[in-house]
Amino acid sequence: MAALRTPICDTLGIRHPIFGFSHEPDVVVAIAEAGGFPVLGLGRDAPGQIPAIVEAVERRLDGRPYGIDLMLPAKVPQQADPRGLKAALPPEHVAFVEGLRARFAVKPPGAPSFFITHARSEALFQAQIDAVLQSNARAVVTAIGLRASLIAQARSRGKLTMSLVGTVRHARKALDMGVDVLVAQGYDAGGHTGPIGTLSLLPQIVDAAQGKPVLAAGGIATGAQVLGCIGAGAQGAWLGTLWMAARENHTPPALMRRLIDSGSDDTVISRAHSGKPCRVVRSAWIDAWDEPQAPAPLGMPYQQVLTGDVFASIHEHGDAALIYEAAGQSVFGITRETTVAAQMEQLVSEMQAAWRRLGAFVTA
Ligand SMILES: Cc1cc2nc3c(=O)[nH]c(=O)nc-3n(C[C@H](O)[C@H](O)[C@H](O)COP(=O)(O)O)c2cc1C
Repeated sequence: MAALRTPICDTLGIRHPIFGFSHEPDVVVAIAEAGGFPVLGLGRDAPGQIPAIVEAVERRLDGRPYGIDLMLPAKVPQQADPRGLKAALPPEHVAFVEGLRARFAVKPPGAPSFFITHARSEALFQAQIDAVLQSNARAVVTAIGLRASLIAQARSRGKLTMSLVGTVRHARKALDMGVDVLVAQGYDAGGHTGPIGTLSLLPQIVDAAQGKPVLAAGGIATGAQVLGCIGAGAQGAWLGTLWMAARENHTPPALMRRLIDSGSDDTVISRAHSGKPCRVVRSAWIDAWDEPQAPAPLGMPYQQVLTGDVFASIHEHGDAALIYEAAGQSVFGITRETTVAAQMEQLVSEMQAAWRRLGAFVTA
């Protein structure tokens, strides 16, 4: 059976209307090879390393189209030295985290990590923006914050601009700034989310987009869901959580176990990770921030200045009780370790099965 395609497949030169977000270059390359559109997240990389990361990915992609995603919230400090920011943290929060470190016997991190050495700041964002504009990425995607100047500069370089939106108000703002493609990212999604579920959000964003392409994100783990979203007006689906099951993601074994063992109801929206509402898979660390004696998490980027070394440590040491990651309700789709190629093949065959089912179920 022929691939099921939408107009954006031709715009971007991809085989399947499946968009894959990942921070991991190996996943990005594998998604492109499997015929999807990969989007490389650079929100966890030190600015000094970004040009080399982008160059290496482009070499491996060998001309295949890809996008770059930046998370650019407003109201962050100008400079990113976490040592300076650390000194200004509220003593109550510092004491609470010290208590958790002792209670859970958190090992000190041994390896360097973005979460220890960097805090989100304007200086960091500017370095990321420069690298993205100089790259050959076909698409530039922004999440959380919208920057009119980045959108204008990206468009003037012939790049397609995309924006993750969680409300109609947010979508209108993006459209006013000239964004080409909206990603309707629902509450079900892994990572930072708004308050509206994907199924309710999508038709509202399709309506607001007035003909501009819309992708659906959040809670999607099967090809039937992809086709359902296309039926509701999307031109494709944008997935994040699912790829963590792929070998190419190098997911720490303890996290892989947690993802496999978790269902949709094991994910929660918490501010404990970044300071902004973020859907994560629960662990003892996340739960501890919900206990009655816990202080309210700090805002972005201070919560990560406060706890970034713990996040780095529990990943480095594979702490089975504490390990967590951003993950959506789509975690139900993670049942074993697999590969990106196998995942894409399954998504595509499920789309085709759903297409046939529609033909059998629906009468005109
Ligand atoms: C581990 C992880 C990290 C993420 N980091 C980002 C990010 O840096 N920027 C971004 O725009 N979206 C990020 N997201 C959200 C994805 O872009 C996407 O919207 C989301 O994963 C879709 O929902 P799903 O997880 O149910 O597939 C992240 C998602 C996950 C699972």
